[in-house]
Amino acid sequence: MTSDPNRVIIFDTTLRDGEQSPGATMTHDEKLQIAEMLDEMGVDVIEAGFPIASQGDFEAVSEIAGRAKDARICGLARAQVGDIDRCWEAVRHAARPRIHTFIGTSRLHRAIPNLSMDEMAERIHECVTHARNLCDDVQWSSMDATRTEFDFLCRTVEIAIKAGAATINIPDTVGYTAPRESADLIRRLIETVPGADEVTFATHCHDDLGMATANSLAAVEAGARQIECTINGLGERAGNTALEEVVMAMKVRHDIMPFETGIDATKIMGVSRVVSAVSGFVVQPNKAVTGKNAFAHESGIHQDGMLKNRDTFEIMRPEDVGLSETSIVLGKHSGRAALRSKLEALGYELGDNQLRDVFVRFKDLADRKKEVMDDDLVALMQSGERAA
Ligand code: KIV
Ligand code: ZN
Repeated sequence: MTSDPNRVIIFDTTLRDGEQSPGATMTHDEKLQIAEMLDEMGVDVIEAGFPIASQGDFEAVSEIAGRAKDARICGLARAQVGDIDRCWEAVRHAARPRIHTFIGTSRLHRAIPNLSMDEMAERIHECVTHARNLCDDVQWSSMDATRTEFDFLCRTVEIAIKAGAATINIPDTVGYTAPRESADLIRRLIETVPGADEVTFATHCHDDLGMATANSLAAVEAGARQIECTINGLGERAGNTALEEVVMAMKVRHDIMPFETGIDATKIMGVSRVVSAVSGFVVQPNKAVTGKNAFAHESGIHQDGMLKNRDTFEIMRPEDVGLSETSIVLGKHSGRAALRSKLEALGYELGDNQLRDVFVRFKDLADRKKEVMDDDLVALMQSGERAA
């Protein structure tokens, strides 16, 4: 996909793993809208759905495939010939289609279809070969890889590579791994599996223990070059790796993570808001990068620092992710400098004595109200003028 060894492919699965989040079902048109926004923001691969899952998913994947401009369009299929055929029917409309097929390889997952290791190995060979006969671009996932016996994991990956998969995904399906382990696993696979240097390793992390972003970045440092993620970290249970977090981490800490993506980060807030609105999943206020408070400052010390030099409390600019400005929130922790600055923005120029008086009344109000809004300040100024 790219010859730059430090280029990380961003594979967005908001429309597949994200939509699997209980209650996050999206309509056909909502999916088209999100796919278009992801394409525009520079996502490399859009996993548009699971075509065998329903007629609706099949139709959405087909239409997204037909409309995509730059992104590869991928569909998910279990390691079953019928699933793979259905997936191909949907994605083949894309200029750059991808079939993503998977099976659970850990002991727990092998017990569900009741397959022995040999039977599973045979199934992987058959399914990846079948997918590869349909499509040039095939991705293989050994689901629950982080809990799969290492030797067997190597065997599954080697079979998939030999059968023609170009991307090998190593999912941490239940969010069980930790950063050092995530890195070690990718490093050992690359060192051990014949043909590993010919393919792209992908990391697909869930956030059950709050480590999805750290685990994904650790995997990249160890050699993975595709991160699977979703907008706002939407996804099964505690969610998936959040796209905005890994992208901004690699930008802001480029000094220690010198990796590139094709993402136009200024589009992040716009997509985040649309995904939140259509999924009905509110972004928690203190969520990294896209939370309402991610660029808000309330305490007097922080506000004063920000007004003098933004670098004191801001490691990235709100404009970098598509917000127009930092928000200085006035509340009981705010100081005089922030109050003066806010009043000036509202058109009030105050002398020091006047400010002292308004500040006393402002603190009184802030003790009663969580956040003092612009309207409150105007009312405060008017009541002061009437009293004078
Ligand atoms: O979490 C997971 O293992 C998955 C696979 C289907 C890739 O979503
Ligand atoms: Zn997943």
